[in-house]
Amino acid sequence: MTDIKKGLAGVVADVTAVSKVNPETNSLLYRGYPVHELAATQSAEAVAYLLWNGELPDAAQLAELRATERAHRALADDVKAVIDLTPLGAHPMDEIRSAVSALGARDLAGTGSVLDASGTPEQNLERSIRLFAALPAIVAYGQRRRRGQDLIPPRDDLDYAANFLWMTFGEEFDPVVVDAFNRSMILYAEHSFNASTFTARVITSTLSDLYSAVVGAIGALKGPLHGGANEAVLHIFDEIGDADNVVAWLDDALAHKRKIMGFGHRVYKHGDSRVPTMKAALDTLIAYYDRPDVEALYTTLESEFVARKGIYPNLDYPSGPAYNLMGFDTLTFTPLFVAARVVGWTAHVMEQTAANALIRPLSEYVGPDERHIDGFVDEV
Ligand code: ACO
Repeated sequence: MTDIKKGLAGVVADVTAVSKVNPETNSLLYRGYPVHELAATQSAEAVAYLLWNGELPDAAQLAELRATERAHRALADDVKAVIDLTPLGAHPMDEIRSAVSALGARDLAGTGSVLDASGTPEQNLERSIRLFAALPAIVAYGQRRRRGQDLIPPRDDLDYAANFLWMTFGEEFDPVVVDAFNRSMILYAEHSFNASTFTARVITSTLSDLYSAVVGAIGALKGPLHGGANEAVLHIFDEIGDADNVVAWLDDALAHKRKIMGFGHRVYKHGDSRVPTMKAALDTLIAYYDRPDVEALYTTLESEFVARKGIYPNLDYPSGPAYNLMGFDTLTFTPLFVAARVVGWTAHVMEQTAANALIRPLSEYVGPDERHIDGFVDEV
């Protein structure tokens, strides 16, 4: 029997210069920079520039990216129409998948043959910036529509994070909240060959286009074993209700062999490198909104689960309650992950395109031995 690496666990599929995950030292580097340093000092726009171009921008480069991003923030009428056609009961990830597909169809209209789809490096960078700029409007309008509220146009005087909150809530948030949101966007932006990024790279490897790669990645991210976990964490918090109920709830959940969402990771076995930074942002929000009950529930569930299973929280564990405190609906959490991760996906699309090889693994056949249709006469 061939040695099969189920789930490709431990398989090194290619090289990448975008980010480095080191589970031994519990570190995550974007283009060489520790992610917690970037989250503490940079804007989401500057980190996007870094992931796409390999270096942090100087003042002029950042100003240019910000101007382009602002120019593409508004929700296009045809994309809005696609969102409006989506049933209100649909999961927002399905809505976003359709909206990005519509955006791609519009941007690529007139491209002609599929042979031209993969685009030049310059075209793909422009497409990446357009997606980064457009996704906040798509996510924000989705939440507003589900709440029966109207679209809010973007504000040119606000940076990416503050404008994202503005378009979602029609409010200017305290800098403490904007900073926590900006940090979450940076922490979610990139994480090497995770399932959705690998999906994007597989699609890119066929010389398909960047939008198709992102649509596929959105589908992969929707699953609760990946991005869907931040939403699932809040469902668990809602089920438990109060820190005093944690022990009984956990006893029951483990007796029923339930997976506790927001815990565990394929690569990190001793704790997710992004958690301390996101937990610090959550602590700030807990103090700002005066919600010691959230802290009690968070720490009790964490300590009880770690003590029993030795499995540590991943980024979705602190980000779920943080987005809840900011006022986002639970269903919007995974779409927020999309808006952030589109930067990493598109950086990988460009890297894959630059040194492409079709991704096409082999499989070991375990089906029936060769057999034949009764009465079939081979005429060849
Ligand atoms: N709750 C309960 N048990 C768990 C959990 C969990 N969250 N995570 C792992 N385990 C257990 C498994 O049941 C399994 O036990 P067993 O050997 O007795 O059968 C063992 O630990 C190994 O788990 P696997 O799922 O096989 O390990 P893998 O490396 O494939 O898992 C994964 C990684 C999928 C993330 C897993 O930990 C999980 O399902 N976590 C919950 C979902 C989640 O939070 N996903 C977010 C990922 S990070 C991100 O996208 C930002």
